[in-house]
Amino acid sequence: MLTKHVELLSVRERQLHVERTARTLYQEYLSVSQAKRRWDPNLDFDWRAVRQDLPAGVAELVTGFFAVEQYVPDYTNRITELVRRSWGRSSFQLAWGGEEAKHSDLWGNVLLFGGVMDRRQLDEYTDNLRASAWMAPWDTPLHMSIYTVFQERATQYIYAKTLRLIEASENPDPVLMAAFRKIVTDEAAHFRFFSDVARLHLYYMPETTIKAIGDVVRYFVMPATDLYANYAAFVDELTKHDIFSTRIYIREIMPTAMKKLGLSGLSAIKRGVERTKQTPNPDGTFATADILGNDFSVVEDSVRSLFERLTSYELRVGFAPENRIEFLNA
Ligand SMILES: [Fe+2]
Ligand SMILES: [Fe+2]
Repeated sequence: MLTKHVELLSVRERQLHVERTARTLYQEYLSVSQAKRRWDPNLDFDWRAVRQDLPAGVAELVTGFFAVEQYVPDYTNRITELVRRSWGRSSFQLAWGGEEAKHSDLWGNVLLFGGVMDRRQLDEYTDNLRASAWMAPWDTPLHMSIYTVFQERATQYIYAKTLRLIEASENPDPVLMAAFRKIVTDEAAHFRFFSDVARLHLYYMPETTIKAIGDVVRYFVMPATDLYANYAAFVDELTKHDIFSTRIYIREIMPTAMKKLGLSGLSAIKRGVERTKQTPNPDGTFATADILGNDFSVVEDSVRSLFERLTSYELRVGFAPENRIEFLNA
């Protein structure tokens, strides 16, 4: 069989190839989430057993986590609007929104049963938070795709670090630990989906993607920071317990996310952006290898194995060969 080469495809055809693959990625995501990650924020936890003596700082942290998750309708709405033309990405965004909404229900129960707030205080707090709306930091689907890679990684990291803080406390509360574990698992799945989509973009549309990664990395902020009145107190706790800070973002979160994309570091992005200023192919595009330089083979291998994974998923569904996605070399 001849290997098809993506450089023979127009920009529009490449986009369609990425979107077809994103559709299968979404289908696979949905199957895994239904089979392995279904949970109920209300009945799956023994809420009456939650102790009221939360470890130091945890009440403030969960109060902040609850705030950030209150803007899920905005996150879902704005991002779905940006990607509405994409079947896979828009459907994913709706499923994602359903999962994120459960996170705010879960934190609400921790605040309530953990004795941090009573129902009236929680309702008032929620109402105040929801009086403002979150606006997307970027207005292109590609920038938002990249932004969510870093944001999901940061969220996963923050919840995992808080879980460790609770585990290290004297006599840790099993219900509280179970709540954090559920959320960490969801955030890891979100990170995987968004980074898979970003890798596809990087491989098939390297010039626009490398620029978007450069922009997002430089101006990254966590969502809803400007909407939450007690944000300063929340940040104090995050910093005090070494859960999140600019240093952690630069040293741990950003490198892990870039590694997942197959990029060796900031300098690789800078060099890639420089190369986009050189002469493109006659159709205005660049060869992926020219943009990615030394990182090319790592990105290619990871995209190839992504296609292998998705092909075996499509085989399980039963798609005929002509209806399956296929790997195209860049
Ligand atoms: Fe979440
Ligand atoms: Fe998430």
